[in-house]
Amino acid sequence: MEILFSSSFYTLFLAFFFFSLASTAIARGGEQASSFSGSTDHDHDFLRRRFFDQTKSPPRVDLARGYMTNFELEKAVKQFGRRCSNISRIYSIGKSVKGIPLWVMEISDKPGQQEAEPAFKATLIIRDVHLHILPTMNPDGFSLRRRGNANNIDLNRDFPDQFFPMNNDLNSRQPETKAIMNWLKERHFTASASLHGGALVANYPWDGSDDKRRQYYACPDDKTFQYMASIYSHSHYNMSLSKEFLGGITNGAFWYPIYGGMQDWNYIHAGCFELTLEISDNKWPMENEIPILWEYNRMSMLNLVASIVKTGVHGRILSSKGGQPLPASIAIKGINSTIEAGGLFGDYHRILAPGESYEVMVSMPGYKSKTTRILLEEEAMSVDFILDPVENPQLRKQVGSACDCSCDDKTNFELVKYFGVTYLEISLVVAFILAFLCFLLKRKMSYNLPKHR
Ligand SMILES: *[C@@H]1O[C@H](CO)[C@@H](O)[C@H](O)[C@H]1NC(C)=O
Ligand SMILES: *[C@@H]1O[C@H](CO)[C@@H](O)[C@H](O)[C@H]1NC(C)=O
Ligand SMILES: *[C@@H]1O[C@H](CO)[C@@H](O)[C@H](O)[C@H]1NC(C)=O
Repeated sequence: MEILFSSSFYTLFLAFFFFSLASTAIARGGEQASSFSGSTDHDHDFLRRRFFDQTKSPPRVDLARGYMTNFELEKAVKQFGRRCSNISRIYSIGKSVKGIPLWVMEISDKPGQQEAEPAFKATLIIRDVHLHILPTMNPDGFSLRRRGNANNIDLNRDFPDQFFPMNNDLNSRQPETKAIMNWLKERHFTASASLHGGALVANYPWDGSDDKRRQYYACPDDKTFQYMASIYSHSHYNMSLSKEFLGGITNGAFWYPIYGGMQDWNYIHAGCFELTLEISDNKWPMENEIPILWEYNRMSMLNLVASIVKTGVHGRILSSKGGQPLPASIAIKGINSTIEAGGLFGDYHRILAPGESYEVMVSMPGYKSKTTRILLEEEAMSVDFILDPVENPQLRKQVGSACDCSCDDKTNFELVKYFGVTYLEISLVVAFILAFLCFLLKRKMSYNLPKHR
């Protein structure tokens, strides 16, 4: 049992989609005002896979100066993997149209292993965070210095959409999109963030509205998303001072609706809470601006990771018979979304805005459901569930699932305890994100890194 506990509790995933750092596109993509200012004129566009064509002229070549080529990036990623082999793993989730691997750096500590970084005293403490960094989802576009991939498809419009079926044809989906979708289905991500440029705001779901109008379109976890986005904007150098966006955050559909984006898909289909972070008004930061960008966003990234770890409820779900882990569903009363516990360890992590009480409902076919009420304060809570198998599955079927929520078996108490302070120093993450961002610069720059370590 204890071995199970010590393994991954959270899987965080920071996907760095340098869409705009490597393209001419605005913000989440496309042209915000112009494409949606009219309405019916553009209706036909909705069913087109290619939502926003690349209309702008290519950027001046010198704007690309200082960025790595795909080849250099791959080399740097692998070098990082070798240098830090005991706390990282390099793997590929698929290939681009042109066959370039989509590399991911997974960074996680191993239990009992600590590497304090004396240079960073702010030790927000987390346990077993698995940080996955995808430096680019679109290497072909990256090398072409444009937003579209090699087929000139905007990948952030290529995901299946909840309102419009334009991307439901599996065969026409881009290989990069397929790779991301398979990856998110396979792994158990708690949260993700994708970085973009072209604006300065933390954007949260929904990204689109059901009638294409620009309006606030809240997802079931609106409150939690607002909380996460605010953490980011308020930790940022000046995001929260925005004149355009109150508090530096925005609901996607309220800003301008997009369809086929990754953010909504992640949340709906992978239970992964994704923010789209617009980190620079300048869509093409110059080489020498990147360290400043990093400086402005550093605390935000750390605080976002920490907030994900430190808020919500998590634990494991086990069978009372034999103690095997159960991939049960976790729902919160009044919030119409569920997440699944991991199959291997029965672990779950449900992000929730703090300062409220919640009813956590756990269900699993063949087992009696359980509900427990928690008062969530500033710290995350750890709640394990031990589920009893139903004796007669037929009987259970007749009773129906409507009973699930009220079958709260008070005699079976859940182990409720506060998530104690645990021992991975977040400074580790600081160092590695720093290292990663420097990859974007010429290696000359990253050679300076050891000085900071
Ligand atoms: C991990 O690697 C670092 C750097 O090479 C080393 O200092 C540390 O002792 C290693 N830790 C373990 C547990 O192997
Ligand atoms: C934030 O700071 C940057 C760099 O100084 C500046 O260009 C931008 O206009 C500022 N934005 C806000 C909202 O204050
Ligand atoms: C919950 O969300 C689903 C879609 O994910 C929807 O079909 C259903 O009607 C919603 N239920 C309620 C009670 O809002």
